[in-house]
Amino acid sequence: MTQHDRLLIIDFGSQVTQLIARRLRELNVYCEIHPYNRVSDSFLSDFAPKAVILSGGPDSVTREGSPRAPNALWSLGVPVLGICYGQQTMMQQLGGLVEHGHGTAEFGRAFVTPTADSLSILDGWFEDGREQVWMSHGDHVSKIAPGFTVYGTSPNAPYAVTADISRHFYAVQFHPEVHHTPKGAKLYENFVKLAGFKGDWTMGAYRAEAIAKIRAQVGDAKVICGLSGGVDSSVAAVLIHEAIGDQLTCVFVDHGLLRLGEAEQVVKMFRDHYNMPLIHADESELFLGALEGVSDPEVKRKTIGKLFIDVFQKHANEVGGAKFLAQGTLYPDVIESVSFSGGPSVTIKSHHNVGGLPEKMGLKLVEPLRELFKDEVRALGRELGLPASFIGRHPFPGPGLAIRCPGEITTEKLDILRQADAVYIDQIRKHGLYDEIWQAFAAILPMKTVGVMGDGRTYDYALALRAVTSVDGMTADYYPFSHDFLGETMTRIIQEVKGVNRVFYDVTSKPPGTIELE
Ligand code: XMP
Repeated sequence: MTQHDRLLIIDFGSQVTQLIARRLRELNVYCEIHPYNRVSDSFLSDFAPKAVILSGGPDSVTREGSPRAPNALWSLGVPVLGICYGQQTMMQQLGGLVEHGHGTAEFGRAFVTPTADSLSILDGWFEDGREQVWMSHGDHVSKIAPGFTVYGTSPNAPYAVTADISRHFYAVQFHPEVHHTPKGAKLYENFVKLAGFKGDWTMGAYRAEAIAKIRAQVGDAKVICGLSGGVDSSVAAVLIHEAIGDQLTCVFVDHGLLRLGEAEQVVKMFRDHYNMPLIHADESELFLGALEGVSDPEVKRKTIGKLFIDVFQKHANEVGGAKFLAQGTLYPDVIESVSFSGGPSVTIKSHHNVGGLPEKMGLKLVEPLRELFKDEVRALGRELGLPASFIGRHPFPGPGLAIRCPGEITTEKLDILRQADAVYIDQIRKHGLYDEIWQAFAAILPMKTVGVMGDGRTYDYALALRAVTSVDGMTADYYPFSHDFLGETMTRIIQEVKGVNRVFYDVTSKPPGTIELE
């Protein structure tokens, strides 16, 4: 358990609950999200939060049996902030009234104006007399609970901001965590300040704490770690190595589907620079052999996933007597979400991971990044001295180039793809765009087209270039390159890469597309 001041976010199922946590972590405040139906009175006292935030949610407080905050919360004596649904349940539970609809629903931009004396959570607000906020509510509070005063109002939410200062209860109808509430981050800053948070959640402090925890968990046992060269597994490996030195062995499985020079870079960095025991398993023949003639995306993914586990297991056995498997699991993978739909979701793609391995091999897990968001993992990587070029790398999928080569995979296509991708990324870096783009790559299309070069006819492959902006890969939009950039990149690729005579730029967003082509 962490030593830091802790803030508890009780989740009522809002789409943006994770953003609350991110805003708080940006303020160096440690917080955890827990679904409302898991937060009992005893959980509350064990967790011992220094403050509590009640999230928004899709249900209606007016519906019988709808979610509530635990009753013990109101006598805990710590500041509580209710947001949207959280505000409404707070009012209802403390003696106010919430009503459904009646033309007072509000979705999108609204403006809040002050109605009473200043309120500490609104410090820095209303410099221009009003403040833009983001609303998303069907219900509204029609009577505030005894003890509360109104501090802000909007045309459709007369009780946009209310508070009972003596009990440190604060309630807002809008969502301060979204970017469309420009002063929202300031509201959170004011709230954690009044709750007495010291801002003690820093990556420097976390590093020391995580190292101590790893040592205590592992003792003198051996640990194996699957290194992919991605940011998460790299940061996890360096952190664990710092904690237990050569008790850690990393296994880097090269499935022959990596980018140009990638295997060499990873091996050089971890073996030579970090002096880490590293098994470089070059299994490209095995993987490419199994993929021969396979063109169905799901069959590709499943073939790679299964072989990966077999190969990893084989090499991990060579280490002998390992008791732990290290993984770069992040906090968003761990947060238990509130599900209202209940039904199974459709599988769009079978993601490649090493799930199932620990049980199969009788290993326990070491997951030192479980409490961190991606941007915190990057900050920790910087703290550990990983090169900036490594930390800022775009994500790369487990099945590698296989899913950037729709249709059958051949070594010829992979070679062309590797070279073209390297030119494309070089172009992006030269134009200073790499860090603005969330992910960029080339894909080789399963077709040949006719062209003319010099005075001759060509019949060569076509490439698709992809570049997207995104926050978490769940949704994405294409990156708006200039036409000059696209033209210059096309020229370079066709001149420098033999076997390509046509280049497309993919402008599909996600949805309806996905980021990878398969
Ligand atoms: P899609 O194509 O689903 O990709 O829009 C979203 C993000 O996930 C990456 N991706 C994967 N990552 N194993 C991974 O580790 C996989 O099997 C996998 N498939 C897609 C993709 O590169 C993008 O960043």
